[in-house]
Amino acid sequence: MLRVRDLSVSFGGVMPLDDVTFELPDGVCGLVGPNGAGKTTFFNVLSGFVRPSAGAVEADGTSLLSMAPHRRARWGLRRTFQQEQVVHSLSAYDNVRIAADEVGAAGDQVREALAFVGLDDAQRRGRHLTMLERRLTEIARSVVGRPRLVLLDEPGAGLAEEETERLVALIRKIPERFGAQVILVDHDMELVSAVCGNTVVLDFGRVIALGPTADVLSDEHVKRAYLGTEEVV
Ligand SMILES: Nc1ncnc2c1ncn2[C@@H]1O[C@H](COP(=O)(O)OP(=O)(O)O)[C@@H](O)[C@H]1O
Ligand SMILES: [Mg+2]
Repeated sequence: MLRVRDLSVSFGGVMPLDDVTFELPDGVCGLVGPNGAGKTTFFNVLSGFVRPSAGAVEADGTSLLSMAPHRRARWGLRRTFQQEQVVHSLSAYDNVRIAADEVGAAGDQVREALAFVGLDDAQRRGRHLTMLERRLTEIARSVVGRPRLVLLDEPGAGLAEEETERLVALIRKIPERFGAQVILVDHDMELVSAVCGNTVVLDFGRVIALGPTADVLSDEHVKRAYLGTEEVV
């Protein structure tokens, strides 16, 4: 369970998060909204890159924001980034091992994470991996060790449709397999519908809808928020 209370972020005059309050149950939940809605900023607050001006975030009963960022990783916070972050000069194995080292996880956990995503031949370097294999490497990094809260920021970006299906199957398995809650940010509403039981919608830093994904995506406020953007609900 993730509880967000009165969370605000201010960059000069801009409020990318404006007094946001919501709760997301365990399992995989979606976080969607038009470009600039504040989704990545929310992830940045949770991982400690951005300091909020007010508010609290409680994950699994623990106050995340009172923990130093490096302790959040040890606690079990994981994230991936919108831009693919695989180190091209290192093997897939070493990409995951570096993440494992940061959280004190051992070599067998690296192999377990790679087996989970189905990445065969993890000795190939990042630069020789396909985009799907790079995205799988990132998922492996996000589940290595003992993850408790996994934040995925557009993990399907740059993938073809049949590749996205593989991602769907994988992301759905994370809660049961690792006991972690997953929050998925994506513009691909088919991906969000296929994976997320509940979804919260942000628009201009405010929550405009929250609930079962199918209800939320057919909500008139949500459709209106997407009007005039290239992303269609
Ligand atoms: N470091 C920053 N400094 C100033 N403004 C920022 C910064 N990061 C994000 N923003 C602004 O905050 C708003 C939300 O951005 P972001 O969280 O990246 O949106 P999303 O991920 O939903 O597309 C945007 O208006 C963006 O321009
Ligand atoms: Mg973003």
